[in-house]
Amino acid sequence: MKHLLSLESLSADALRSILDRVTVFKRDRRTHARPLTGQTWALIFSKSSTRTRVSFEVGLREMGADVLFLNASDIQLGRGEPIRDTARVLGRMLHGAVIRTYAQEDVEQFAAYSGIPTVNALTDEEHPCQILTDIFTFEEARGESIAGKVVTFVGDGACNVPTSWIWAAARLDFELRIAAPKTYQPSTELLRRAGGRVFCTEDIQSAASGADLLYTDVWVSMGKEAEGAARLKDLDGYQINDSLIALAAPNALVMHCLPAYRGKEITEAVLERHAATIFTEAENRLHTQKAVVDWMVE
Ligand code: CP
Ligand code: NVA
Repeated sequence: MKHLLSLESLSADALRSILDRVTVFKRDRRTHARPLTGQTWALIFSKSSTRTRVSFEVGLREMGADVLFLNASDIQLGRGEPIRDTARVLGRMLHGAVIRTYAQEDVEQFAAYSGIPTVNALTDEEHPCQILTDIFTFEEARGESIAGKVVTFVGDGACNVPTSWIWAAARLDFELRIAAPKTYQPSTELLRRAGGRVFCTEDIQSAASGADLLYTDVWVSMGKEAEGAARLKDLDGYQINDSLIALAAPNALVMHCLPAYRGKEITEAVLERHAATIFTEAENRLHTQKAVVDWMVE
């Protein structure tokens, strides 16, 4: 049985196999097969979501499944029922699960105890579906492979989104530069484990120099609200703005996983000028979720 629990656990071949399917699902949206007909899948979310929730709900339905959305605080999980008991119950009723939560270990336990295909829809550690979408979006826009290109991530370099980028860089052979204050850089342990061409620096200008893609994410991730004020202060300046874009390659793309906080990690002007790419990136979540599920159930 296949799960998508992290990019760490995905081989380069599996990654490419999923990306190839995204092209087909996007092209054949109205006519593709419905391999989940007769199945019921659940989304079990402990954190807010717009893109991930709607793209999975719509995507699973378009693949033929019935879908339940379970807010974790509405089920007994929210009152302390262990994840492994929840998993053993739901695994007897459902055909697949998509989970957004805090601890990576919870998604891993759910997969192990439920016995049904399980997707990580964001944990504190990784956001694999997002980065699969981002790579698809880059290659779709540029008409060429991301291999050999330079991706610069600006902002909180230690959260889930850059972590998944780190694993993707190791698998798909592009250079990843992370521009972040020292205490917001990924751990050396993670960098050592992942390998690949990943460089971390506090110098945002040198990180952006000649980049093919400038990418950012919120400064205050879900679950970090108590540190909000300190994060806004610490990350001030780690922003995608016009002067940073001037340093990148002339045809550089700008992407953001969204939601965006204008005036913080990205300026209003840059976001609006690159809206076509950024909202295509958001749309591509739908096609990518289908590709992920199709790969899991084949
Ligand atoms: N990018 C992303 O995962 O968005 P949501 O939090 O709205 O799902
Ligand atoms: N790093 C962000 C991603 C949001 C899609 C968060 O975890 O809140």
